[in-house]
Amino acid sequence: MWWTPLLLLLLLLLLSTAPRPSRAGPLQKAPVFQLTHQGPWGSGVGNATVSPCEGLPAAGVTTLTLANRGLERLPGCLPRALLSLDGSHNLLRALSAPELGHLPRLQVLTLRHNRVAALRWGPGAPAGLHTLDLSYNLLEALPPCSGPVLPGLRTLALAGNPLRALQTGAFACFPALRLLNLSCTALGRGDHAGIADAAFTGAGGAPLAALEVLDLSGTFLRRVQSGWIRDLPKLTSLYLRKMPRLNGLEGDIFKVTPDLQQLDCQDSPALTSVHTHIFQDTPLLQVLHFQK
Ligand SMILES: *[C@@H]1O[C@H](CO)[C@@H](O)[C@H](O)[C@H]1NC(C)=O
Ligand SMILES: *[C@@H]1O[C@H](CO)[C@@H](O)[C@H](O)[C@H]1NC(C)=O
Repeated sequence: MWWTPLLLLLLLLLLSTAPRPSRAGPLQKAPVFQLTHQGPWGSGVGNATVSPCEGLPAAGVTTLTLANRGLERLPGCLPRALLSLDGSHNLLRALSAPELGHLPRLQVLTLRHNRVAALRWGPGAPAGLHTLDLSYNLLEALPPCSGPVLPGLRTLALAGNPLRALQTGAFACFPALRLLNLSCTALGRGDHAGIADAAFTGAGGAPLAALEVLDLSGTFLRRVQSGWIRDLPKLTSLYLRKMPRLNGLEGDIFKVTPDLQQLDCQDSPALTSVHTHIFQDTPLLQVLHFQK
């Protein structure tokens, strides 16, 4: 039996190199699973042209964050049940209503810090959308809109876009708008008038009767004009902070905004003339900021 030790040795060798049973198995597999799961999404600078659907969650998901994915457009394969989508910090260049048609239940869409330079309203937009945040994009103008396209939209944030002017009826697509944020836009920069008379009229010239909060901080407007504020009869808060050129509040600008409760003009250094009689029209005014 001279070969018995050799056989034993061979047996030992085999045992030590064979894959270990159950305990180590799943642990070794974990990283492989993560890699395939991340695909182009996990890298932070993913490539939208490479299978954008890979790694997306299953159908029932209602809230999804796709921030920082290098997306050039919204993937067409998003779960239809989505109520809220955050696609901030991507590379989207345009947004059109039909593009959202496959997200019929969407209520909140956040696309801050993209490169959206073109908007197209039209049929097909999700009827329940109530919040649209397009802050810090590249919009220089808003598309004309003649009738309600997003009848339930309550909050529209356009802060930080290079918007120079608002034409008549600019928000007629959103008759239910309550909060409009136009802060840090280029309104009034250069020789542009900024906000046209009747910019805040809805369909058929009716006022934007639901608008309560308007933020014009950081814009280059010189005046609050009765030509546009008269179409905001329900205004409760007006933000006019850090407006380098705002130089006067006068006339009967607040005659049609009896519900005004908050007027914030902090850090608007050129504001030298404020006619006190304008406040006779605002019996509910509670907060008034005029520092600096
Ligand atoms: C994205 O994919 C395209 C086509 O495959 C390729 O040419 C490009 O270099 C990729 N970009 C990045 C950032 O990976
Ligand atoms: C408007 O948007 C800016 C930038 O996102 C934000 O700081 C500001 O608080 C917003 N204003 C209102 C009234 O929500």
